[in-house]
Amino acid sequence: MELGSSCWSGIIAAYREFLPVAEDTPVVTLNEGNTPLIPAPALARELGIHAEVYLKFEGLNPTGSFKDRGMTMAVTKALEEGSSAIMCASTGNTSASAAAYAARARMNCIVIIPDGNIALGKLAQALMHGAKVFAVQGNFDDALRIVREVTNSYRITLVNSINPYRIEGQKTGSFEICDVLGDAPDYHFIPVGNAGNITAYWKGYKEYYSCGRIKRLPKMMGFQAEGAAPIVRGHVVEKPETLATAIRIGNPASWKLAEAARDESQGIIDMVSDEEIIAAYRFLAEQEGVFCEPASAASVAGLLKLARQGFFAKAHPTTVGAHGTSSPVRIVCILTGHGLKDPKNAIEYSSKPISVPATVEAILEKVKLEPRSQGALNS
Ligand code: F0G
Repeated sequence: MELGSSCWSGIIAAYREFLPVAEDTPVVTLNEGNTPLIPAPALARELGIHAEVYLKFEGLNPTGSFKDRGMTMAVTKALEEGSSAIMCASTGNTSASAAAYAARARMNCIVIIPDGNIALGKLAQALMHGAKVFAVQGNFDDALRIVREVTNSYRITLVNSINPYRIEGQKTGSFEICDVLGDAPDYHFIPVGNAGNITAYWKGYKEYYSCGRIKRLPKMMGFQAEGAAPIVRGHVVEKPETLATAIRIGNPASWKLAEAARDESQGIIDMVSDEEIIAAYRFLAEQEGVFCEPASAASVAGLLKLARQGFFAKAHPTTVGAHGTSSPVRIVCILTGHGLKDPKNAIEYSSKPISVPATVEAILEKVKLEPRSQGALNS
């Protein structure tokens, strides 16, 4: 057997038949994908109906976000087409992923980020992988405008999600969910920024449906941050604001496609406040043991908001209080990025370390511990 042939070797190898690649396409991969679908029982209990909730933890991709699924495809195709450089605008994760895959492919990488509005871990990644990083005095929408202009006129490949290969790669997230669950979930909750990911997931579900791998389609439930919710408000937001900097976007590139995903699936695109995002962020870390970045928690904040409004009780009255007797409503929330990306917000929104002298007494003064009974084994 070929060495490693039974191991996971990335989304292109796993889903080749659904992707625009040929036998001799030079695949650039960091073995992205195959992320876990983690049951979230504490979250399910909050909903007040008989539900199964799963977290698709995309923070466990090689660079810590879902962008790697799209980037393996975009960089592979750029290399195949003979490009020697890639460029993107980014709120952070795209730049980290582009920089890593460019390094892997030995290509040059230019990234444009909004000065002062990207999480520390993401900046560290782009710099460490050797990208040329420009911090513009503007927001993501300004950065994307510049990248579109440059890549239109010069020989450098754009790797934002308006590059169709990004969407092709990202749609494999849907395939993985369906492969694990055996069908699509009832609801798919997802944060929305530039709106590429909701577009990609919907495309993935539709493709699996049309080739008979699944029997139904989910409702797509997208959530923007209240201060950066152009799709919900129906107009461009000139000065988007949210502490979830990953989705601090006022004019999403895939706006119309996100609306199509919502409408075709009979889903929703709504918004959540920064307070709701932080509450969900903390809930996931404290109650489920899963640490995602704030923007990712927008999907779960949306789920909790709808539950509070009685959405599920109304849509699924037979499952109210019917735990175990009815078939559960299946819900998947996409956690798009890892919590370690953004240490500043994590420290800001959790309790602080307690500084004490280096003695046993100092610790025992602050916490109540039961003395060990004599003869008990150390555990
Ligand atoms: N969650 C995270 C962690 C993100 O980084 C992004 C987008 C989104 C959600 C929203 O996904 O744009 O496809 O709707 N980040 C981009 C970036 C914009 O530059 O890293 P989307």
